[in-house]
Amino acid sequence: MSGQQSAAAGRPVLSVASEVAPLVKTGGLADVAGALPGALAPLGWDLVTLVPGYPAVLSALGDRRELWWWGGLFGGEARLLAGRAAELELLVLDAPHLYARGGGPYLDASGRDWPDNPERFAALSWAAAEVAMGRAGAFRPEVVHLHDWQAGLVPAYLRAAGATRPGTLVTIHNVAFHGLAPAERLAALQLPGWTFTPEGLEFWGRISALKAALVWADRITTVSPTYARELLTPEFGMGMDGILRARAGVLSGILNGIDTRLWNPAADPEVLPYTTPRGKAANRVRLIAEAELGRIEGPLCVVVSRLSEQKGLDLLLAALPRLLAAGGGLVLLGSGDARLEAAFRAAAAADPARVAVRIGYDEALAHRVFAGGDAVIVPSRFEPCGLTQMYGLRYGTIPVVTRTGGLADTVIDANEAALRAGVATGLMVHPPTAEALGAALGRLAALHADRAVWGRLQRAAMKADMGWSASAPAYAAIYRDLAGVG
Ligand code: ADP
Ligand code: GLC
Repeated sequence: MSGQQSAAAGRPVLSVASEVAPLVKTGGLADVAGALPGALAPLGWDLVTLVPGYPAVLSALGDRRELWWWGGLFGGEARLLAGRAAELELLVLDAPHLYARGGGPYLDASGRDWPDNPERFAALSWAAAEVAMGRAGAFRPEVVHLHDWQAGLVPAYLRAAGATRPGTLVTIHNVAFHGLAPAERLAALQLPGWTFTPEGLEFWGRISALKAALVWADRITTVSPTYARELLTPEFGMGMDGILRARAGVLSGILNGIDTRLWNPAADPEVLPYTTPRGKAANRVRLIAEAELGRIEGPLCVVVSRLSEQKGLDLLLAALPRLLAAGGGLVLLGSGDARLEAAFRAAAAADPARVAVRIGYDEALAHRVFAGGDAVIVPSRFEPCGLTQMYGLRYGTIPVVTRTGGLADTVIDANEAALRAGVATGLMVHPPTAEALGAALGRLAALHADRAVWGRLQRAAMKADMGWSASAPAYAAIYRDLAGVG
C-alpha cells in the first residue's frame, strides 16, 4: 500500500467498518469511515480501512496485492487484498461465500437480514484480529479502530488469542444495533465458552457482537458529546447503559465532521454554485421544477433520510398540515419502512403542488435537495450524531431538529437572545412530539417571512464549522494513548 511505503508515512491504524463512502453506503457510518483517513492523515496517522469484499468494493479496487489466504474462513475460502479505491487505502476481505451477493450490505433484495449476518461480520472481525496481531502480511497497526457491532467481535478474538496486540477503540455510531446471534452459534463463531457470560458478550441469553466491544475494547467513543451522556441512561442506552456506565471512565463523545470537499455549495457539481444565501435562490427554483411543485411562498422544507422509527418522520407527517397552512412545502427523499413510504406517497398524492416524495436512495439528488431547500427537517427520537443537519447548515438550509444527540450539539436555536446575538443557526424542537414540531414549523414560517432575520440565520449557518478540525485531534489523542506514546 503506497501510504505505508512512502517515506513520510504516518503511524499505522487499522480501521474496521462494514461500509465506507463512496464505495458502499447505507448511512452516516459510511460517510464517517470514509472521511476519517483524510482527517487523521495530516495529524500523522495513516488509516487503512478493512472492509468486506462486496462486489462494489472489489470492482472499484485498482491494483491489488494478495496479502493472505484462508482455506476455510467461516465456511469458505477467503483472501485478504490490499489496494486503493476512491483515495482510500483498503484491506478487502474477499470471501465470495459471504459477500458476493446482490442486495445491500446487510439485507437481501426483499429487505430481510441475511440469515448468516453473524458469520459474515464475525469473519470481518476475525480477519481484523489476524491483521492486528501481525499474522496476515507485513502490515502491523499500532491501533485498531472498530466501528459498530459489525467489528465488535475483534476484541473478543484478540483476548481469546492471548497474543500481543495493539490497543483497541470502538466507536458507537448507533447503540440500537446490537449484532445479536443465538447462543448456539457460539462455537460456529469461533468464540470460546468463557466469553458467554453476563460480564462478557452475553446479552439476555444471546450473543451480542456490540457488547463484546463495549466490554473488551480499551476505549469507547461515540459520535457526539450529548449522545455519550444519553447512552448512560435507560431511555437511550437500549439495554447497554449498564455496561456503559461501568465503563464510563473510558467513554467519550467526539462529534462527527462532514467531508467539506464533497459537501461544498461553492464547488458541488450537482449544484448551481453559491457562497452566499442569495446564490441559493436559483437552486430553489430548480428543485421546485425538478420536484414538479407549484409556487411555494413559505419555507420549502426538505428531508433526506432513512425512513425508520429512529428518524421520527411520523411526527412530520402529523405536523405537515401546520407547515402547509403556513404556506410551506415539502420535498422528501428517503426509503425504509413500508408504512412510512406509503404514508408519504399518500401525502404527496393529496397535495402534489406542495408535497413531493421520492422513495429511493439517490446521492446526487440529495445534493440538489440540500441546495434547493430553505430548511431541513430532522425530528429524530434519538440521533447519535446526524449528518443531514450539518449538510443543511453548510448549504444555508436551516435545520429544524429535535433536542437530542448530535442534533443538540450542532444547532443553535433561534431564540430571541441567539437571534439578537447573530449566532442562531436553526430551530430546536422539544419534546419530540408532533405538537412541538408543528409549533416549530409555524415559528420557521414566521422567521422565513422576515427577510432580514432569515438572511442572518442563513449566514450564521453557512459560517458554522462542520469539518473535522476539532474532532480529528480528539481521535489522534486517543490513538496516541492507545499506541502507548501518550
Ligand atoms: P443515519 O446514519 O442514521 O442514517 P446520518 O444523518 O448520520 O443518519 O447519515 C445519513 C446519510 O445517508 C447522509 O449522508 C444522508 O445524506 C444519506 N441518505 C439517507 N437517505 C438517503 C437517500 N434516500 N438518498 C441519498 N442519501 C441518503
Ligand atoms: C449512525 C447514526 C447517526 C450518525 C452516523 C454516523 O448511523 O444513526 O446519527 O450520524 O451513525 O456516525
